[in-house]
Amino acid sequence: MSKTIYIINGPNLNLLGKRQPEIYGHETLADVERQCAGVAQGFGLAVRLLQSNREGELIDWIHEAREKAAGIIINPGAFTHTSIAILDALNAFEGPVLEVHVSNVHKRESFRHHSYVSMRADGVLAGFGVEGYALAMRRMGSLLG
Ligand code: DQA
Repeated sequence: MSKTIYIINGPNLNLLGKRQPEIYGHETLADVERQCAGVAQGFGLAVRLLQSNREGELIDWIHEAREKAAGIIINPGAFTHTSIAILDALNAFEGPVLEVHVSNVHKRESFRHHSYVSMRADGVLAGFGVEGYALAMRRMGSLLG
């Protein structure tokens, strides 16, 4: 059976493609899922894309990943900058963790410059648009291949 990569998305990312397209572009999470599944297939990996606006649900999926996923790609949205609880959950996960931001958070407001998740992430991609997810998946393939 193929190893599964969880692609976990935080608040407001259900609106990807619709909200502030000048910052986040026109592609949707469905496009992200399709692109990542294509890359994953080349490495013999499977993907499960998840999105929630609730911090606790994101944490539950990270816990579930301990049993069911070989790696995590995560865009925690605004929880990136606030959530010690998500950092703690990721610290309890043993596989590779890659952090993705559609926008270049370092070019934006100073409150977006700090990420709790980066203290755990094995790699961070920011400002590559939705392509960042597929690039992260490619890296996951080399880490797990
Ligand atoms: C984001 C950046 C965050 O600062 C913001 O709160 C988001 C999306 C990104 O993908 O660029 O919701 O994580």
